[in-house]
Amino acid sequence: MKVLIIGGGGREHALAWKISQSPAVKKIYVAPGNGGTDLDNNIENINISDTQDLIDFATKQKIDLTVVGPEAPLAIGIVNEFKKNNLAIFGPTKAAAQLESSKEFSKSFMARHKIPTAKFATFEDTISAHEYLQDNPAPIVIKADGLASGKGVVVAMTDEEAHEAVDLMLSEKIYGSAGTKIIIEEFIEGEEASFIVICDGSTILPLDSSQDHKRLLDNDAGPNTGGMGAYSPAPIVTDEVNKKIMDQVIIPTIEGMKKEGIEFSGFLYAGIIVDLNKNIKTLEFNCRMGDPETQPLLFRMQGDLFTILLKAAKQELEGVEINWDKEHAITIVMASKDYPTKPILGDEINLPDIQDDSTFIFHAGTNLENSKIMTSGGRVLGVTAKGKTLEIAKNRAYDVLKKIEFNGAQFRTDIGKKALT
Ligand code: GLY
Repeated sequence: MKVLIIGGGGREHALAWKISQSPAVKKIYVAPGNGGTDLDNNIENINISDTQDLIDFATKQKIDLTVVGPEAPLAIGIVNEFKKNNLAIFGPTKAAAQLESSKEFSKSFMARHKIPTAKFATFEDTISAHEYLQDNPAPIVIKADGLASGKGVVVAMTDEEAHEAVDLMLSEKIYGSAGTKIIIEEFIEGEEASFIVICDGSTILPLDSSQDHKRLLDNDAGPNTGGMGAYSPAPIVTDEVNKKIMDQVIIPTIEGMKKEGIEFSGFLYAGIIVDLNKNIKTLEFNCRMGDPETQPLLFRMQGDLFTILLKAAKQELEGVEINWDKEHAITIVMASKDYPTKPILGDEINLPDIQDDSTFIFHAGTNLENSKIMTSGGRVLGVTAKGKTLEIAKNRAYDVLKKIEFNGAQFRTDIGKKALT
């Protein structure tokens, strides 16, 4: 079987790494891939991004399954186009991907289907947004409606920050068309967990839990990023919380979409806030795997991911189960100097030789130039390790990380700490 994976981050390296372990898979292409997929003899990078060119490639190469990593191609309807050409693809259609591509769609959908989420209001004009902030003081959350590469959310801890975020999004249009509409949302206290399921339109196959660290600096300080580290499982998702998430969020979402005439097939990722009383609220939906959550999740997943995704793409998920390694897994992200504002790229990376199955370095923003691995993106590497306890996994990952060198490398030193205290 031949597989095409779309995307070039740490998530796509992890997907390619896991899918390449399937005995059924003979060839994997990643478009565009990164330095890590380039180094792997079982994987070939292809430099194609245009949807029609990808369709032509998949047709010519007789690709058996295409898996879409990031949200942007989903939001423009790559799944619809592949299906029109009778090509098997795993991911939501453009209509289903609105759960991520439009915050307004997603919040209104949750309100219609009584899915627990924070109180919100939508604005297109600055004056009404500022007036609303006067009645709803900080802490408060301002979100751009559309996709803004994970940067369109401001958690304003002061009224000044909230008003400034409104001006930046609506008047100065820092997110372009993604911010012509904004959502102002109640701030909810609690701990965040990532809950991801595979769905074929009706059958839901939950993955184990995970938790991301979105802020750049230790102790959740500094600006929001795409994610600086993750671990799995997340102890905050107890059996009781897991059941609440399935009953109150995941099942009503898949059923609600169906009632509205939209079948959801793909990865559905609910960002969940769990409060001190173990009540849950849905922070957001994504229509893809999380990055970096994919890395620790797939490091623990047993079995054949390719076969599962092929079954999901064919609506044959019923009866499929996933077993999880009892060990804990963790990923520490190493980012470029000055990430997330203006990452400095083009530095050589010195990587240690790893001969140990309990650790792996997933690449994200890297490329291979004249046999050298260079930084080419904000988040560069995801240093991943497994262990009997989270503490062991964490120590293993940091031991490997200490041996990696590149100019100005940034990383958090407290990944996993919340689950250890
Ligand atoms: N780690 C957060 C995300 O993938 O959106």
